[in-house]
Amino acid sequence: MQRTLIEDLKPGVTIAQDVHNSNGIMLAPRGAVFGAELIKRAENNGIKEIFIEDEEQAEQSAIISFQKSLNVDNIICENTKIQAQKQIRKTMLKFNSIGKIQFDRINSMIDNIIEQLFSKKDIVLTLSRLRSIDNYTYEHSLNVCVLSLILGIDLNMDKQTLKILGMGSIMHDVGKLLVPEDILKKPSRLTGMEFEEIKKHTDYGYAILLNSNISEEAAAIALNHHEKYDGSGYNNKLSGEGIPVLSRIVAVADVYDAMSNDRVYKKRMQPNLVYKEIACQSGRHFDASIIEKFIRHLSIYPVGTGVILNTNHKGVVIAQNNFLPESPIIRVFKKDFRSSKYVGVDINLSQTKHLHIKGTF
Ligand SMILES: [Fe+2]
Repeated sequence: MQRTLIEDLKPGVTIAQDVHNSNGIMLAPRGAVFGAELIKRAENNGIKEIFIEDEEQAEQSAIISFQKSLNVDNIICENTKIQAQKQIRKTMLKFNSIGKIQFDRINSMIDNIIEQLFSKKDIVLTLSRLRSIDNYTYEHSLNVCVLSLILGIDLNMDKQTLKILGMGSIMHDVGKLLVPEDILKKPSRLTGMEFEEIKKHTDYGYAILLNSNISEEAAAIALNHHEKYDGSGYNNKLSGEGIPVLSRIVAVADVYDAMSNDRVYKKRMQPNLVYKEIACQSGRHFDASIIEKFIRHLSIYPVGTGVILNTNHKGVVIAQNNFLPESPIIRVFKKDFRSSKYVGVDINLSQTKHLHIKGTF
């Protein structure tokens, strides 16, 4: 990687490190190709220099662009996903002017999602790698809703209960609309007082939803989604079965999605570490009977994960081997010296004795 002054940049170079402005907002992620427009944007934001890729990083670029091309997030159809996020955004923005959440559109959207989930079997959760931080709230709300419904279906809940679960989970963080934005988006560690302020979003959410003609059961999801099974959560320190089951489900979905994706103040965790953390919190943070179901949907190395082999070669997971979660099928990239391009070669790790995954990136 080499440091380059912004005035010396030529369109077409690849960025070797995320570019942020002085407020911590990301202008371009690592791996993005700088075009004339992006160079201008960086200049307008007072960026003086950036790190760009040298030759050695070309292999890495080939891997990243391949990862981005993988459709890793196909639990619900792309159109539903886009429309749902738009609808969540609209509904939340409208709250500012009318002081209520209007559920009519969200209602039919949840029906649609439930139908799509019922038509799928054996859903394996993957990472949404293209998530933008600006859109975090809406994407997170939708993901938590979808994950919660997958669990609700696994627990044989009837459609009426699933509907309540869908409505409450999609608006579980609505109370954050009343928390000052500078606290919510603070990139550094929160002070004790700031954290107390954030904690109020559960009470705020409950009040907003009760005032919006939604059932008490659904509103209680917003109230209780930060309670922990061992009683160490907030705001009412409920524990065990004292926490309504719908809130226990949303607690798992919320933490899983937050750990699996980049946020303003924290990078996403590696899938194998997310898996470990979720399993480790079974019976502590989470209800063990729900975790038992949830773990069945997780894979250690989901499709799209970048892996490092014991030979130090890098690759991307392209498929799973049933019953052998530690040995997926991966694609590695090798330089074709005639064309100077990196080409993909697929390796089934379950069929090689000398290769194994030693880490992820
Ligand atoms: Fe929350």
